[in-house]
Amino acid sequence: MLKIVVLVSGGGTNLQAIIDSIRLGRITNTEIVGVISNKKDAYALERAKDHGIDAQCISPKDYEKREEFDQALLHAIDQYQPDLIVLAGYLVILPKLLVEAYPNKIINIHPSLIPSFCGAGFYGLHVHEAVLARGNKVTGATVHFVDEGTDSGPILLQKAVCVKATDTPEILQRRVMEEAEWLILPQAIDAIANGRVQIKNNIATIF
Ligand code: GRF
Repeated sequence: MLKIVVLVSGGGTNLQAIIDSIRLGRITNTEIVGVISNKKDAYALERAKDHGIDAQCISPKDYEKREEFDQALLHAIDQYQPDLIVLAGYLVILPKLLVEAYPNKIINIHPSLIPSFCGAGFYGLHVHEAVLARGNKVTGATVHFVDEGTDSGPILLQKAVCVKATDTPEILQRRVMEEAEWLILPQAIDAIANGRVQIKNNIATIF
């Protein structure tokens, strides 16, 4: 059984997609052992509690120094002894010590086709604003492993989504979530849970 901890910052629709996929048998061999938010009022925490999942907030605002927050977050995650950490809309840059403690055991969902529209500053609506500003006709989402860079780890799954002339950033964000994120994040977890993922020379393959 793959034990996963999900880190969130907002509404938690990706968390909900994981919860639903486990319930529907689309993700097998997996248990969500904890949800951690950096924001106290994140609706994702309510979603977790509604499903009987242990949920807590660890906010950088509650610590004087960034290093103290980093340690607290690592400690909280360690308590769950997870096999995989899933970043599902988590808007905090991950502490280096966490990435080092869990090599190839952290995945992130990013709302574009990496390497386009990723890296510093590309999060949330900014990604979709940039896609529209460039006039792209196709965008999408990417699940990738997390390394010490920003959005730079091995790519695990991607799905393309059409951009429409009438799109606003909000409409495009919603379509990318519905048509890509909510599908490929559960698929990625299921593949990892069932031993179908290999990483070799920084290339991740699902077989
Ligand atoms: C998603 O678009 C995700 O890709 C991005 O933030 C959003 C989170 O949405 N990083 P939710 O909290 O899962 O609803």
